[in-house]
Amino acid sequence: MAYKVLNNISVKDTSSSKLAAIKTDMLVLIINKGTKNDSSFKELDAISTKYLSKTIASHLKDAGSSIILPKMNGIAAENILLVKGYEKDTPMHKWLSMYASIAKKGNQLGAKDLAVMCGDVSPNDKDEFWLIEMVAKTIESNVYIFSETKNKTVKKPSVKKLTIITSGLSSANLSKAKLAAKKGYAIGEGVNTAKYLGDLPANHCTPKIIEKKVKAMTKDFPKLKVKSFNEKDMEKLGMGSFLSVSRGSIEPARMMVIEYKGAKPSEKPIALVGKGVTFDTGGVSIKPSPAMDEMKWDMCGAATVFGVMSTLARMNANINVVGVMACAENMCSSTATKPGDVVTSMSGQTIEILNTDAEGRLILADALTYVGKYKPSYVIDMATLTGAVVIALGRHASGVMANDQYLADMIVSAGEESGDRAWQLPLWDEHQSCTKTRYADLANIGGGREAGTIHAAAFLSKFTNDYKWAHIDIAATASYSTPVKGGTGRPVPLISELLLNKKLK
Ligand code: BES
Ligand code: MN
Ligand code: ZN
Repeated sequence: MAYKVLNNISVKDTSSSKLAAIKTDMLVLIINKGTKNDSSFKELDAISTKYLSKTIASHLKDAGSSIILPKMNGIAAENILLVKGYEKDTPMHKWLSMYASIAKKGNQLGAKDLAVMCGDVSPNDKDEFWLIEMVAKTIESNVYIFSETKNKTVKKPSVKKLTIITSGLSSANLSKAKLAAKKGYAIGEGVNTAKYLGDLPANHCTPKIIEKKVKAMTKDFPKLKVKSFNEKDMEKLGMGSFLSVSRGSIEPARMMVIEYKGAKPSEKPIALVGKGVTFDTGGVSIKPSPAMDEMKWDMCGAATVFGVMSTLARMNANINVVGVMACAENMCSSTATKPGDVVTSMSGQTIEILNTDAEGRLILADALTYVGKYKPSYVIDMATLTGAVVIALGRHASGVMANDQYLADMIVSAGEESGDRAWQLPLWDEHQSCTKTRYADLANIGGGREAGTIHAAAFLSKFTNDYKWAHIDIAATASYSTPVKGGTGRPVPLISELLLNKKLK
């Protein structure tokens, strides 16, 4: 099963087809200062007997505002959406919301297809190809509507096709534009994969169900090789830390390892590791009831791995990547781990579990040890790990901590480029607080109420000594709770940017 929403995204240059002749349900024109001098716009405006330019002058005062015009004689489009574009120095999030609102307007209107002229202004340091990639990515990921678990009130996205209209591109630049659109589409598909898995209720998204979906994905992408580990396999590997989390649940844990080989076999892979807690009750250290439903998004790290692997396969990317999805359900029952229990991790270090709600790090500890066997060039884990990161950074940035500054810098910069931002927090020796326990080598909590995000990362760092590693805490960014709840598909754009564009050295 593929998780893309649109059937097709294409690029068309207006030198070969006039704007007035484009048959579409919704022609979207992003209006900049220079638009009035654009020959294809001038032609369209003349056909409308200047109705377009008059509407722009009288109704589109603020950047980002828009107006829908109905069908006009002589113009093939059923509707025209005029959007007042932004200036070069407008912050990137506003650009992305502008494209998102175009997608949503298309669905509201019941349009089957959109044709978007992006305008000739892009943010500082970005070119027209960046713009095309962002339009493709943002529209694909915002026509998405979740309705799998609805029966009588199903709402399906109406928009199925996007044409990006450029003007006067040389044939070399047209190929570049097409590649940018393809990339944006592939990233948008990855975002939707992650959103969908996150949005699925926990009873529709157990570790076994995720395993099935991952295996099914290899039908679309034969280049992805999947190995799946059940609890017996994990026991043989000595993953006592991971298994302590699923002990209380009737749903068995699963670890899926997805290999993608797009480069020479001799090239070391980059490893991605995702926390996949399909539901986090907290275990015996049970969470309070309000908003506990949001713990169905506690598998968004694993969902990001799933999404990114599909994007890489879709793009035929020339790198080697191994993705690990570490999935378990954290429940409380008579078989559940109890506070004070001591388990042995795959690394050999014993862990005193003082709080069963600090379960993500227990799963990651063993998954991180496991990927060491690939001798990876870099390891990046993604996890909805701490509520503290919401307090530290708010909803707009994921938290990055690393044992390698180059990797941290590249992640932050990929976040800036893609509009899926991350910000670094320190990870110092002073933060090693989990070592102070009488009964094991490590405790799974430490540091009290201080810097919970960093203390969690410090625990993980005890399992990542053998390679260059970064941890991304996505508890604040992978889903949102207002005005309605939903998954965001983050940090698929950041990681895709990092792997497809940045090329880690
Ligand atoms: N899954 C939660 C973190 C979380 C909180 C994600 C809010 C999304 C939104 C994680 O397993 C957890 O419970 N962390 C604890 C750690 C604590 C017990 C040290 C937390 O943040 O309270
Ligand atoms: Mn927890
Ligand atoms: Zn959790």
